[in-house]
Amino acid sequence: MGTQHKNVSFVAIFTALACIAVYILTFTEFDALIEDGGSCSNTNRNIRRSPAVVEDMKRFNNTAIRTILRTPGFRWFDDALISPQNNIYLEKYKLHYCKIDKNMGSTMQAILCFIDDQRLHADLFFNQPWNAGLDGTPCGISTASDTLRQRFLKAAEYYRFFDEDAGIYHFSIIRNPLSRFISAFVDICVNRAPFDGQICFGCGSNLGCFVPQLHDFLYKQSEHLPIQRWSLDWHFFPQSWYCDYDRHIDKYHFIRYGRNEQFWRQIVQVFRNSSVEPHLVSVIEEKLKTKTAAHATFTKSDDYEKIVRDSPILLEYLYKIYFLDFSWFGYRI
Ligand SMILES: *[C@@H]1O[C@H](CO)[C@@H](O)[C@H](O)[C@H]1NC(C)=O
Ligand SMILES: *[C@@H]1O[C@H](CO)[C@@H](O)[C@H](O)[C@H]1NC(C)=O
Repeated sequence: MGTQHKNVSFVAIFTALACIAVYILTFTEFDALIEDGGSCSNTNRNIRRSPAVVEDMKRFNNTAIRTILRTPGFRWFDDALISPQNNIYLEKYKLHYCKIDKNMGSTMQAILCFIDDQRLHADLFFNQPWNAGLDGTPCGISTASDTLRQRFLKAAEYYRFFDEDAGIYHFSIIRNPLSRFISAFVDICVNRAPFDGQICFGCGSNLGCFVPQLHDFLYKQSEHLPIQRWSLDWHFFPQSWYCDYDRHIDKYHFIRYGRNEQFWRQIVQVFRNSSVEPHLVSVIEEKLKTKTAAHATFTKSDDYEKIVRDSPILLEYLYKIYFLDFSWFGYRI
């Protein structure tokens, strides 16, 4: 207990120093730091809460690999800087969903679009696979730029959007950072990159080539250094960079992604709790049940996960890239 306590303080102090150093070096955001604590103070608070994180920090001790300790600080209305279609707000139910890419986002969007307008989104909801992305569908267009997007932006103009007395239910789906990374890697670098040399730094399915470059790319971005973005890169952004968690993590309800019944039951419960009409909830529940069962084999992901788990250096990179995710959302590697 004594040593653990000492280590907790050590990490907290270390993090605080790192944050202060960053602020001093960049001469930026002093106001933000004072005004709302900034991302750094949040980081400290959460590290102190989690002894598991401290234990892992001790294990990953290669000083040449820096830990990403801050977010770029996107606000909730800056969400388009990360990726398209990040937020949906349904006024009627006071329900705000903030999407993290790779965490069943298309499915959730298809469902929320359907709740919002059953006639317009019936085809997507009943006849499409959902997981193939929503580009070009009425739901994709609506959430990216059209009515649902405009309605979210209108709601988000309200400066007390996250205040308790606004009475809005904010929720997100979170996922183990390592399995999320593997899923993104297979989807983007293995399945798509062979057709586009720019994606994944041209590394294709080579993890040893990709991961260190991803680390530098994201580290620089967290420090507001110039980077050249590439299409689909946001799939690899830490979850902690989304949804203005720096400032509003306490206002969100989180559902932990899993391929199990408990997971979709919780989603259904969110809709029930938000007074979505029971007949709609039943249709959604039925759909989720069958869709979840349809996802069967993930052998490719298993292979890549094994490569990562067998490589201490890759694990260390990934742990340090997704450090805030592990610490804020309480996952272990
Ligand atoms: C670094 O971690 C390894 C185990 O992962 C441990 O054996 C070693 O003592 C650690 N080094 C330091 C300086 O803590
Ligand atoms: C739904 O509401 C109940 C009762 O207030 C609460 O205990 C439960 O945690 C809520 N579920 C979700 C997923 O928000």
